[in-house]
Amino acid sequence: MALTASRPAPTHVIAHLSDPHLIARGGLLAGRIDTEHQLRQALARVEASQERVDALVISGDLADSGDPEAYGLLRTIVDPVVERLGCALVLTGGNHDERRPMARTLFGVDTDAPHDTVTDVHGLRIITIDTAVPGYHHGGLSDDQYAWLTRKLADPAEHGTVLVMHHAPITYRSPVMQLLDFDDVHRLRAVLEGTDVRAVLSGHLHVTSFGTLGRVPVFVAGGVSYVDDVGAPRELLMGVDGPQSWNLVEVHTDQVVGTVVPIEQHQTWPALTEAVMAFMETVPEEDRREVFSRKRT
Ligand SMILES: [Fe+2]
Ligand SMILES: [Fe+2]
Repeated sequence: MALTASRPAPTHVIAHLSDPHLIARGGLLAGRIDTEHQLRQALARVEASQERVDALVISGDLADSGDPEAYGLLRTIVDPVVERLGCALVLTGGNHDERRPMARTLFGVDTDAPHDTVTDVHGLRIITIDTAVPGYHHGGLSDDQYAWLTRKLADPAEHGTVLVMHHAPITYRSPVMQLLDFDDVHRLRAVLEGTDVRAVLSGHLHVTSFGTLGRVPVFVAGGVSYVDDVGAPRELLMGVDGPQSWNLVEVHTDQVVGTVVPIEQHQTWPALTEAVMAFMETVPEEDRREVFSRKRT
């Protein structure tokens, strides 16, 4: 049985994954992470959630080392899922990607220009901007990219804009990662000010994190491949094989909500018994809060 939602459904649902760091031919990341398995498992959880998904976003570090075969593997894994979900696929590169093999294999174009895109998803505009700086691991945008983004944001979209960028424009605790972060948060904040951007979706940090850029919320999806151990002292950078996750981003008319979804399927149990659920179905909708919420003494 399923209770009717008492709140309006989101206008748009985004499954936001990041940092698959795919390695082809069965290779293991750091000698221990099966990146293909991790991505397949993450997508299995997207499908198992039975959420309506309007867009699948993967925000960079798609491949671990720019290997063309890894991008081919990404297509092999992702395309059937996108087909089944009937959703848009939105991809952007990260510092571990290499633009030319990524563009050739994923997008069918032979270029090393940044892959910056605009996708209309039922009135929600999703913009990707490639923050990878060729030859480096930190992030940034060229003058041309800032100008392009400014032009694209000049006119608002029906449901506003979600900006996808690999390098998260927030301050992360790790001194090591601060050497590799986005280089000009102030300039980007100025570009977004007064525009219809409602959320920034990022990765790169390999942790689930949230912050703000001016008035815009920033949602950072934890790594699909591995995670930075936040429990370790901040001066260390310790990888951990868990708890990998993705973010369910629900866009409402008046708010954007992010929910973390662990990739590993842990053991579950029904928090409400079938008898309670069946009883609730018999309660008129207008009485349900009173009946269900009231504490029993
Ligand atoms: Fe990464
Ligand atoms: Fe990265």
